[in-house]
Amino acid sequence: MPTPFGTIYSTNITPDPETGIGRWSETAFIRALRSGVDREGRHLYPAFPYDHFTRVSDDDAKAMYAFFMSIDPVRSSAPPNDLPFPLNVRLTLAGWKLLFLRQVRFVADPSKDETWNRGKYLVDGLGHCGACHSPRNLLGAEKASASFEGGEAEGWRAYALGRSSQSPVPWDEAALTEYLARGSHSQHGTAQGPMANVVDNLSLVDPADVGAMAHYLASLGKSEGRKDVETAPSGPGRLPQAAGIQAAAPSIPSDPGGAIYAAVCASCHEGDRALPLGGVRLGLSTAIAGETPTNLVNLVVRGIPASTGGSAHPIMPGFGDVLGDRQISDLANYLRVQIAGKNPWNGLVKAVTEARGNR
Ligand code: HEC
Ligand code: HEC
Repeated sequence: MPTPFGTIYSTNITPDPETGIGRWSETAFIRALRSGVDREGRHLYPAFPYDHFTRVSDDDAKAMYAFFMSIDPVRSSAPPNDLPFPLNVRLTLAGWKLLFLRQVRFVADPSKDETWNRGKYLVDGLGHCGACHSPRNLLGAEKASASFEGGEAEGWRAYALGRSSQSPVPWDEAALTEYLARGSHSQHGTAQGPMANVVDNLSLVDPADVGAMAHYLASLGKSEGRKDVETAPSGPGRLPQAAGIQAAAPSIPSDPGGAIYAAVCASCHEGDRALPLGGVRLGLSTAIAGETPTNLVNLVVRGIPASTGGSAHPIMPGFGDVLGDRQISDLANYLRVQIAGKNPWNGLVKAVTEARGNR
């Protein structure tokens, strides 16, 4: 797992006695889950999200232990982590925990309904959604005061959720349920990058639990203090908020980005093409309205590779070999300003370089 600090390898959690957790007691397992300490008492890196799992109930923690002990053991050791000093010294983590780990079990809010409480329990605990969707401080701990304000994950932007969401169409409970359960929604597009793995996992979760997470998350968007989306220039090409229709892309021959959009992207993204090749109208995409250009340029450079899964899985070609850095920047800038109607992004050129490097 790449982190801003270096590479951390996930260890074997099958019940193999030599290389896995076969010799671990239930107590040792639950201690690792909640306190980030392994069987020998060594501190674990918070890339293992024990800062979230600490909220997991006794019953669920015991059920997880029983499950892991029941799977087939696999003999395999993870390579050593690739971390610089002092992070490679696990004792450093004791200090980190002292500062940032709050070991608190989930407590239900009696003023809210049962579904809401179930959803919050899952989102904050086992779902560890904030591990990606919340910003982190310089020491890699989530900023408690900025939950769900958007974060980074493996070279992708995990967009803000709830009241700071930048989605052109506000997320409601029904849309969240569908997106989390199926990985896509007609007004929001498809989950990409690390979120694609999350929705793969959620497809195995009880639909009632996925619905509860959506219910809880939707309630976070209803705050009075909803930040207004940054003031946008109004003019032709501006997408009417939440209208679900994109104004016809203005053909400005003098805008090189617009010309690239019309020639390369429009045939798949103008709405009447079916999956696997039909993409959402880009005026609906958080990739263009969001805080950073990261996901847009990742997609343009790498595309969406065909999967071996169902035939309706979306496919988009990558354009990293066809378009130069300057063209990708012009295109992104055109989409951002003309289609999303927002102020130009900072750091666009850097994002393009990073997207190529990540490939
Ligand atoms: C491993 C990191 C990671 C985790 C964990 C994660 N997400 Fe995401 N999430 C992302 C990324 C990256 C994106 C952007 C995906 C894209 O561009 O298609 C995303 C996108 C989303 C979106 C779409 C937002 C928008 O405006 O388009 C929703 C909703 C969402 N995640 C909900 C969740 C929920 C609920 C959980 C917990 C069950 C969760 N995520 C856990 C990384 C993560
Ligand atoms: C051959 C068809 C095809 C072409 C050409 C194409 N795309 Fe896509 N694109 C897709 C499909 C399919 C998806 C996945 C469905 C979705 O999320 O909209 C997608 C997804 C996206 C997304 C994510 C939308 C979201 O929020 O889920 C962005 C951004 C995007 N494309 C931008 C572009 C740009 C910019 C171009 C031109 C350089 C382009 N695409 C060209 C088919 C295409």
